Amino acid sequence: MDELKQKQRAAVATPPHPEDLATWTPKRREFLRMLAYGAGSLALAPLISACSDDASAASSDLRSQLAQDEAFWSEVQGMFVLKPEKVYMNIGTGGSMPKVVLDVFSQENLAKAADSSSGYGNLADLRAAVAKGFGVDGDEVAFSGNTSSGMCHAILGIKWEPGDVVVTTNHEHGGGLTPLNIAVDRYGIEVSTIALPVGNNQTASTYVQLFDERIRALKGQGKRVRAMMWSAPTYKTGTMLPIADLMQVVKAHSLISIVDGAHLPGMMAYDYGALGMDFMSGAGHKWQCGPGSTGILVIRNKMRPSNPLPLPEWYPIHTSSYVRQPRGAYDIAATVTSCGSLHVPMFRALARACEMWDTIGRKKIETYDLTLSSYLKEKIVERWGVEALYSPKDDPKLLSALTCFNPFRNRDDVMNQQKATTFVNRMLSDFAPGFVIRSVNFEVIGAPAQHYGIRISTHLWHDANDIDRLVESMWTLSGAMA
Ligand SMILES: Cc1ncc(COP(=O)(O)O)c(C=O)c1O
Repeated sequence: MDELKQKQRAAVATPPHPEDLATWTPKRREFLRMLAYGAGSLALAPLISACSDDASAASSDLRSQLAQDEAFWSEVQGMFVLKPEKVYMNIGTGGSMPKVVLDVFSQENLAKAADSSSGYGNLADLRAAVAKGFGVDGDEVAFSGNTSSGMCHAILGIKWEPGDVVVTTNHEHGGGLTPLNIAVDRYGIEVSTIALPVGNNQTASTYVQLFDERIRALKGQGKRVRAMMWSAPTYKTGTMLPIADLMQVVKAHSLISIVDGAHLPGMMAYDYGALGMDFMSGAGHKWQCGPGSTGILVIRNKMRPSNPLPLPEWYPIHTSSYVRQPRGAYDIAATVTSCGSLHVPMFRALARACEMWDTIGRKKIETYDLTLSSYLKEKIVERWGVEALYSPKDDPKLLSALTCFNPFRNRDDVMNQQKATTFVNRMLSDFAPGFVIRSVNFEVIGAPAQHYGIRISTHLWHDANDIDRLVESMWTLSGAMA
């Protein structure tokens, strides 16, 4: 382990407590104050993304971009309580609360117990504070239980008619597919599924074309297409289905737009008011690093130039504050959030995580996360070739911080579930520190069986050295398993 990393791991092992600040250097104290314990934001230059056919030149370019702000990210890394004996690269499944968020969580829990408080209300103050980081108003940000709960709110609240068609993809998560299937059985809707491409040979326009052509074909058959539902990014290949581009298709066909954005909060610095989708269901517990059982559901509650379509007819399905008023005339997110007595400390902790992200700068985090994943992709290309990538790397609109690839020297081994599981397990057990990654299964057009790709999440507690060690270890293991 290099010296910087050792220091960093030591800092992580003993995370700073606010009361320990007296022992810190003034520079470090000032940094922490700005970042976590005070308001204000840091104006920091975004990294420039590289685009080169030469993987090796591209990776060294990306590496030097990552190095530019090494000290800053080292301080950020020191704010988490992650165990030093593992490198956590499965944020796509679960994030980790930073110390400052853990502090709020426990203090609020203690205060609640000390005062025997209840949790009635709709958390309007917290929702308004969180909404600022997402480009919408407080009446458009609801706190949900997680992404899946947000997808249930969105899909099952729509006033469906029998025969309505929802166009979606074959790379969706059960969190979105489950309410969709309930709507099939309960309301008689139909689902039309588009098979998605994988790998680097695709662009944003590929998705516009795929959805637009399918909708036109359905309409040609006399079908009533009502909605589009898609993941941005998909949890399988990490491909960012481009929301802004797909919203052009939504508007051209006057559709309801439902985005499974499980991975968006905390990873991407999106302005949801400017994007204009009807529903975006995100997790609070993944990239946003809030507590478990938290989600952020953005619901369009006003007509903006980004989406002048009428607000869809929708009714709450999980609430204790039903408001009998027309859509747009009331705080729809309050209705969704308020359902009996809430776990207020949990949502205060989520709001604190959002505040921390706003203070660092959501764009800065997005740029760092994407630069890490672009660096990882180029390193994979150097070793395995571009054909090994399931995630696209060259169209900036399709990038996310999830990277998925085929690590096997015998490429067909990627259809062997057992082998993929062994690869994941050995990446943790055979190396020190071990790597926490996962495998994901998905359909590949023309393939005889499902592929079990290896998925890696890159986030603000990683650096270029982590990626170097990861790639070296994966190369060694794939050789040993050949
Ligand atoms: C695309 C996608 N949707 C939904 C979910 C479900 O997330 P949650 O546990 O927040 O409900 C996940 C979880 O990984 C996901 O990746």
